[in-house]
Amino acid sequence: MFEKLGSLPRRLRWALHQWNPAADREFHDALFSAQRFDPFSFAYPGYITIRRFAELTEPHLEGVRHAVDLGCGPGEITCELARRNPRISFLGVDHSEAAIARARTRRPSR
Ligand SMILES: C[S@@+](CC[C@H](N)C(=O)[O-])C[C@H]1O[C@@H](n2cnc3c(N)ncnc32)[C@H](O)[C@@H]1O
Repeated sequence: MFEKLGSLPRRLRWALHQWNPAADREFHDALFSAQRFDPFSFAYPGYITIRRFAELTEPHLEGVRHAVDLGCGPGEITCELARRNPRISFLGVDHSEAAIARARTRRPSR
């Protein structure tokens, strides 16, 4: 029962807003171009989660030389992983230009 309830919001959103990739890109462009939203700031509510996610990913990067983050958003997780793993080359991919523009400003210099 809870599994069914868990997918309900997503199904409702799909049905009501007719989600599609173009709508998703528009949504994320608006979200990531908003200046008040800075996922790299300590004040960002997800800041700790990003660091935790990077920690959990760490063991899976053993022996990895190249990694691609599909749907990287503004690259907060990609950049954190790149900062922690300077020997791995990371490529972030996202269909939101605003997200990629944000990510480019924060990528660690090599
Ligand atoms: C939930 S956000 C996750 C962002 C980031 N990975 C994070 O954890 O904060 C999903 C991302 O996937 C991107 N995305 C969704 N569909 C996509 C597609 N078809 N091609 C490229 N990027 C896509 C969105 O623009 C958005 O930035």
